[in-house]
Order: sequence, then structure tokens, then C-alpha cells
Amino acid sequence: MALPNGIVESTHELLDAQAHVWNHIFSFINSMTLNCAIKLGIPDIIHKHGKPMKLSQLVNALPINKQKSDGLRRLMRILTHSKFFLKVKISEDGDEDKEGYCLTMASRLLLRDEPLSMLPLARAMLDPILIDPWHHVSEWFQNDSSSSFVTKHGMTFFVTKHGTALWEYAGIEERWNGMFNEAMASDARLVVSILIKECKQVFEGLKSMVDVAGGTGLLAKAIADAFPDLKCAVLDLPHVVGGLEGENNLSYVGGDMFESIPHADAVFLKWIFHDWTDEECVKLLQKCKEAITPSNNNGKKVIIVEIIVDDKKEDHEATETKLFFDMLMMVDVKGKERTEKEWAKLFFAAGFTSYKITRVLGLRSVIEVFP
Ligand SMILES: C[S@@+](CC[C@H](N)C(=O)[O-])C[C@H]1O[C@@H](n2cnc3c(N)ncnc32)[C@H](O)[C@@H]1O
Repeated sequence: MALPNGIVESTHELLDAQAHVWNHIFSFINSMTLNCAIKLGIPDIIHKHGKPMKLSQLVNALPINKQKSDGLRRLMRILTHSKFFLKVKISEDGDEDKEGYCLTMASRLLLRDEPLSMLPLARAMLDPILIDPWHHVSEWFQNDSSSSFVTKHGMTFFVTKHGTALWEYAGIEERWNGMFNEAMASDARLVVSILIKECKQVFEGLKSMVDVAGGTGLLAKAIADAFPDLKCAVLDLPHVVGGLEGENNLSYVGGDMFESIPHADAVFLKWIFHDWTDEECVKLLQKCKEAITPSNNNGKKVIIVEIIVDDKKEDHEATETKLFFDMLMMVDVKGKERTEKEWAKLFFAAGFTSYKITRVLGLRSVIEVFP
């Protein structure tokens, strides 16, 4: 077979290439079938059943048209293939209905009542508000708007001096504000449980810490509980922290992090820098440096939780997921995921002298940055 450039490929290579193209054309089906399972509440139904659940039992338990059981079988087949469910034998003969579905570790993380549930994050990320901008990426490349999100939702006129349309949108759309904040809180819950278990030393010795753009403060609250002598403040936009009451060693501040950050021994920022351009990150790092400067504590530092791309020892799926995040930042905000070299450049440009990376959070790392 001759391709347009004249290179003659073997039939095998040609068919491999065709399969690769098909796989990529249809990769969205992974996200959409997962979304469907979440919307139907399939993980919760199987969990409630308490033992492997037959297809017929699942059909009966779900709020679906019972004529569509074969559709459900096929949905479960692809989600079993993608490791969200496990199919186990209930009895010895090979009859289809003698097999049952169980949860895997991945679908357990999508249970509504699981303490570390990622369900709110999955719901928000798969909401049309964030999916629709993907249909406008090529248009964004040709226009001058800041993101494909802006191209789709037409938010340009809302974008303030230090604003990104996504946060502006949350400020005017109550449903999205609640959904996004809950998504962030669910991720914070999982991250902080690991930080407290595996990374205690990062917080030990600190007397005060401010979680900058810390959402509704779930992470700061868990840190404040784990370290009762550490005074924690959460800074976020007024529509996020408005109405939230501090308690004991936790307080809330509504404001703009680019304007002012409360003084503390340490400034904590999780999933913030990847939302912003390099120039904005340097500005924000300088604000962080000002915030820790008056501290006499030796341990003063900035603590960052983010992805580092180009990490050498990782598998194909890990790299792909980091690149997904990088594209997500391009499409929905105006930031990016960074290599260690890019991170270092930002730290030194803002006047910091050293940093330390601890890889304890799977695809993300803890980066301590020192003045
Ligand atoms: C990706 S979320 C991360 C939230 C939290 N740190 C977490 O990881 O769970 C980004 C946060 O930045 C906040 N934010 C955006 N612009 C801000 C600004 N100018 N000042 C303070 N917070 C801001 C948003 O409201 C949102 O809560």
C-alpha cells in the first residue's frame, strides 16, 4: 500500500495505524461511558447489593427502561474492560447471568459515601460547562481569546485584572460554583489524608500557614486538626469563602491573592500555579515571598502541590494523564503543567534560592520552596 508521501508500508503497519487512529477518534467513549455509569449511580447500586451483582439484578435495581438490558450489558462490558468493574463467576456453568459484577478500587473511589470519593471531581470535570469548550479549541487557536472556555462561554467581558473566566463564571453561576468547590474539596480530602500520613515533616515546626486559593478550606481544616498548634488561614475569592465560619485554629479570608496574602510562616498552594501563565506565577510567588518574609521562624517556606511533567520513571498512562491535565489547563484557564526545569525557573525568577521535591502524591508532587 502506498501512502501519499510515497512510502510503501506493510499491510500490518497500515492496519496498526488505522487501529491507532480509530482508538483516538473514539477515546472520548471512555469518558462518556464512565459519565453514564456515574449518572445512573451504578457503583453505588453494586456496592449496596453487597455481593457480585448479576446483570438481571442490576437492570432491576437501576432506574432504567427494562427493555434496554442489552445496552446495559454492553456498557458494563466496556467499563469492565477499562477496569471500573470486575466480572466474577457466581456459579460453575458458563451462562451469562451466572456471572456478577463487583467494584474495583477505581469504582470504589466513585461511591457517593466513600470518605475519599472522587465523585464530585468526576461530575464537575465531565459537566457540559467543561466539556463544551473542547469543541472550540481550533477556533481558539485562530482568535485572540484567553481560553477555549472563553471562546465557548463568551466570558471575555467578565475577566477582571487578575481573573480567569472559569472563576468569574463560578462567581455568577451558583450551581457551577457549588459543583466546582465540592469537586476541589473532594480532591483536597484525598490529598490531605496522604499528606498527614506520609508528609508530616513538611508541616512540623510551623506556627502559622495560609492556604492560598484554598477553596472552601477542607484541606486547611484537616491540617489545622492534625496540628493544633498551627494557625491556619484560608484565602480565596469572596464567592468561595463568603459565609464560611472559622473555628479554633482555622480562619477564612476573602480576597485576591494577587493583591495581598496574609503573613505566615508558610504559604500553601495546591493546584494553583497550573492555572496561570508564567508571568502571573512569578507575580504570585513574589506575593508569597512577601507573605513569609516577616516570619522569624527558620522553617519559612512556600509549599506547593502540583504535577511535574517529564518525570523520568513513569509509565505511559501516567505521562498521558499529566498531558491531559496540561491540555485541560490550556482549554479551561490559561495555565499549563510544568517540567522541573520550568518550575525552577519560576522559583528563581521570583527570588527564591532553593527547592525540594517530595514525590508522595502519585501524579503530583510536594514542592517546598525556600527564600
Ligand atoms: C483549581 S482550584 C484549587 C482549590 C484548592 N487549592 C484545591 O486544590 O482544592 C483554584 C482556586 O483558586 C481560586 N482563585 C482563583 N483566582 C483567585 C484569586 N485571584 N485570589 C484568590 N483565589 C483565587 C478559585 O476560587 C479556586 O478555589
